[in-house]
Amino acid sequence: MRSLDEFATAKLEELERGSLRRALVDTTRVTGIWVLREGRRLLSFCCNDYLNLTHHPAVKEAAIEALRRYGVGAGASRLVSGNHPLLGELEARLARLKQTEAACVFGSGYLANLGIIPALIGPGDLVLIDELAHACLWAGTRLARAAVVPFRHADARHVDALLTELRQRHPRALIATDGVFSMDGDIAPLRAFAAMAQRHDAWLMSDDAHGLGVVGGGRGSNFVEPTKANIPLQMGTLSKALGAYGGYLCASAAVVELIRNRARTVIYSTGLPPAMAAAALAALEVIESEPDYAALPLAKAKAFARIAGLPEPASPIVPVLVGEPEAALKASRLLQEEGFLVVAIRPPTVPMGTARLRLTFTAQHPDREVERLAELVRKRIVALAPAITTEAQ
Ligand SMILES: Cc1ncc(COP(=O)(O)O)c(C=O)c1O
Repeated sequence: MRSLDEFATAKLEELERGSLRRALVDTTRVTGIWVLREGRRLLSFCCNDYLNLTHHPAVKEAAIEALRRYGVGAGASRLVSGNHPLLGELEARLARLKQTEAACVFGSGYLANLGIIPALIGPGDLVLIDELAHACLWAGTRLARAAVVPFRHADARHVDALLTELRQRHPRALIATDGVFSMDGDIAPLRAFAAMAQRHDAWLMSDDAHGLGVVGGGRGSNFVEPTKANIPLQMGTLSKALGAYGGYLCASAAVVELIRNRARTVIYSTGLPPAMAAAALAALEVIESEPDYAALPLAKAKAFARIAGLPEPASPIVPVLVGEPEAALKASRLLQEEGFLVVAIRPPTVPMGTARLRLTFTAQHPDREVERLAELVRKRIVALAPAITTEAQ
């Protein structure tokens, strides 16, 4: 269709003009940390494989064994073709780790958020969502067709004020936040949010995609403080520190049963492949039995930030803000010339004016390379960030 292609071409040109066009670049991950791109071997600091478990022998072996025994795909929805016992085993293990009564796995973290929120919240209800929450939490809230009100990032007082003003007008209310924020690496004030939820009878939901495996002794963002917050809806993914693929919700038995009955992305989407459940189970075994290993990504992020002259991070995610998209692309190219793969993050993933490098640290990053990268970032990016920004304008 000519009009369709004209539309696509015009949109792409608009993105190009704003340095916002994205491209898929062929890249092969050859180990948990090294990649091959355009004929070069680069050390990657942009993968969420925090514990390098994508390449862990026991995790791979578990997936291979399950694949041999049970085949590749799940064949149909869990409710149609039958529930693979590995899924039940994985759910029990996740629930135990998060200290909830039950859990439900999904095909991905994105699918989890698309399924959970509309199953619990509907037209007439209220969702308060952190302004910097992940795109799939936003997508889930939009599908719920509720009143959606963003609150200032990590601001429990704003949540309180909004609930005081709005709560009475809606039968049900949900507070949705990332646990560890994916682009900033900070941790939500979960106990303060839980107190607001309690005071106003709202349901707190955390997306801990980036917390599981790497903070709170590997249990996630709700285990960082000595006292846990009461979070009735704890969602996350198997695709980051666990090195596999899939999503989950940990919650009470009643909520999980309702989700299995009402979440459209459970009912109408093919179940998680058994090999992914087997890999996730093996990954959880590593995390629970090797807490010192699980602590390495955050330790490396802190060492990096100290040398680079950046604030101490709360998670293995360290943002280096440069401002404009072109400046972020330039900084990323500079690091690539030095052998590091660090992707530029641009709007709409982050707000306008906050384009950045987003570095993720993993257990196996060699200390010497972390130091070399930190020196480069300090001297050539942090020190010059305003200049890079101005030059791009
Ligand atoms: C905070 C957050 N939630 C959810 C997701 C989606 O998870 P998945 O990649 O398993 O779909 C991501 C990852 O991209 C994320 O960063």
